[in-house]
Amino acid sequence: MNIPDIIIAVDGCSSTGKSTFAKMVAGAFGFLYLDSGAMYRGVTLYAMENGLIAGDGAIDEPGLKAVIDTLDLHFRSIDGATKLFLGERCIEKEIRTLEVSSHVSPVSAIGWVRSFVDDKLHAFSAGGRVIMDGRDIGTTVFPNAELKIFMTADEKVRAQRRLDEMLAKGDNPTFEEVLANLRERDYIDSHREVSPLTQAPDAFVLDNTDMNLHEELVWVQGLIQGRFGILC
Ligand code: DC
Repeated sequence: MNIPDIIIAVDGCSSTGKSTFAKMVAGAFGFLYLDSGAMYRGVTLYAMENGLIAGDGAIDEPGLKAVIDTLDLHFRSIDGATKLFLGERCIEKEIRTLEVSSHVSPVSAIGWVRSFVDDKLHAFSAGGRVIMDGRDIGTTVFPNAELKIFMTADEKVRAQRRLDEMLAKGDNPTFEEVLANLRERDYIDSHREVSPLTQAPDAFVLDNTDMNLHEELVWVQGLIQGRFGILC
């Protein structure tokens, strides 16, 4: 396992703004940003495109297990942004659709899928400074992370943010569809047997219901400066 010099773990429910926050911190403090949810989305997209998820959502687990170790899912840094690739294909856009969102939680609840993703995350977190967001980064993937942040926000505010994001990308779901998907994912993510979403006891809670990005930056600056003496 590669152990980064400093790891900041950012966990929390769906659409709490973890990736926006983590990217901002990465840019401000010179950390590498890794999105662990993208990996689960990548496995889900592969399964969908290869007939391993039926119309009713049933997952062909033996079929997926037989090929999982051959999946060439990896991050590449392009113009300062980290993008997910499946082989030579950038799948960053395809993994963000509502269809992938609606299948990803059951896929991510499978223990051997989690082991596959954890191994990849450890491999990509070479030495240096890394900020990673997900559901179990501070509890399972990097339980000794130097700084753990747990993000939360009001459910309706989260659904509206996700809807705005999808509308901006040209998707056209309703608020109710987005809210239902978000509730379902939160439920599955926090009730699964393997590595459920929970707040690490030593995590700092960031409730950003009424905060803008600048306020989040000011909040985290204090933590990072206090803990690591790094100024942005
Ligand atoms: O953060 P996201 O919405 O892109 O994550 C997609 C799904 O992946 C989410 O429903 C739960 C799962 N996930 C997980 O189980 N563990 C992680 N560390 C990251 C994501």
